Formats: sequence, C-alpha cells, structure tokens
Amino acid sequence: MSNWLTIAMPKGRIFEEAADLLREAGYALPPEFDESRKLIIEVEAEKLRFILAKPMDVPTYVEHGVADLGIAGKDVMLEEERDVYELLDLRISGCYLAVAGLPNTKMNEVAPKIATKYPNVAAAYFREQGEQVEIIKLNGSIELAPIIGLADRIVDIVSTGRTLVENGLVEYERIVDITSRLIVNPVSYRIKDEPITQLVDRLSKVVTKAGMM
Ligand code: PRP
Repeated sequence: MSNWLTIAMPKGRIFEEAADLLREAGYALPPEFDESRKLIIEVEAEKLRFILAKPMDVPTYVEHGVADLGIAGKDVMLEEERDVYELLDLRISGCYLAVAGLPNTKMNEVAPKIATKYPNVAAAYFREQGEQVEIIKLNGSIELAPIIGLADRIVDIVSTGRTLVENGLVEYERIVDITSRLIVNPVSYRIKDEPITQLVDRLSKVVTKAGMM
C-alpha cells in the first residue's frame, strides 16, 4: 500500500468542486464518492485513499502525515498555520474574508468585540490596524452576533454575499481573497515524490485550462 496516496478532502461546500476537479483531471472516482457517508473511501484503480474531514481539520491530518495531501481553503491555512507545503492554487471555491456588521454603526471605543470562526486571522488583522479588540470565537452562524448584540463586528467568509444581505449586515473591509489549495506533508513529498508530482501535473493542467476560459 506504500505507493498509495492518501488525500484529506474537506466535507461540505468545497467537496463537490474538488471532486469535479479530480474527475476532470482523469481520476475515475466512483459515484458512491459523492453520496456515501463513509469517512474513508479507497479507489483501488487509482491507488488513492480519501479521508473525508471537516475543512478546518484538513491541514491537521496532513501535518501529522496521516494524509499525504489535502485540499484546504486559504482561510483554513491562514488560521491554522500548519507545517505543510502549498503545492497548487486549485482556483476553486473562490470567496473572501471580510469585516462586516450592522450598517452605520461605529465599533465600541473600548475593547470592541469581534465574533468569528477565525480568531487568529481576526486578531492579526486588528493588530495590524492598531486596534485593540476582544475576539469571540464562534463555530458557525457568525452573522447572528451583531444582530443579537454579541459583537460589534464579525470577521467571516463572504461568497455570494447573500447571508450578509439577508441578515441586514454590510461589509466594512475586505481582508483577503480565498481559494482552495492542494497541500502536502513535507515528508510525503520527499518519499512519494513521483506519484505526487504526477497528481500535481494532472491537476495543474485542468486548473490552467479553466483559468484561460
Ligand atoms: C459561510 C460563511 C457565511 C456564508 C457566506 O457559512 O460563514 O455565513 O457561508 O456565504 P454567502 O456569502 O454565499 O452567503 P457556512 O454556510 O459555511 O455555515 P456556517 O454558518 O456554519 O459557518
């Protein structure tokens, strides 16, 4: 099994686009890939084993070497700062991180509260702005925080912008653009150099082609 590659795939919104990309690159993923509740899926013909992980955990599996490769959003990479290499910008699941809040409101002057799923990114951002803030870590539905008075602002992902609009929030600052990346464990990259380089070549052809259209 040593010539197999293990790839940590993010469950949820990136999953479908990532699976499409692999299929476009010629990997024959079975139909059960998209529907199954299995957390480990082996594709014998391709010598690929997939681990289906929570997006925020993908770099953890890769750093610890239980997955050779992973597909992770740049948001997760910035937040987690794991010891892994980024091999390729897959240019899928484009979105951005932004500061948002209720319209026409100023932040509290003393220790304004910022609700976010990204405490490290948010803390670094406000530190750079020279603002002292209190970070409140939430795990989802971040947009609730300013509405119910838990926080002055949120730092969160904006994709279509619908969640902000439908909850009466506005964007104040754009922090950073996000796409998904192919990441690798540094030791795997040395030991399994050949199959990994092949996979990167196949994926980058698809990514480059899509970028030119
Ligand atoms: C993400 C993000 C925003 C929303 C943005 O949440 O945290 O809430 O998507 O997308 P939009 O701009 O297209 O509306 P997700 O759906 O992943 O769920 P969460 O609330 O559990 O974080």
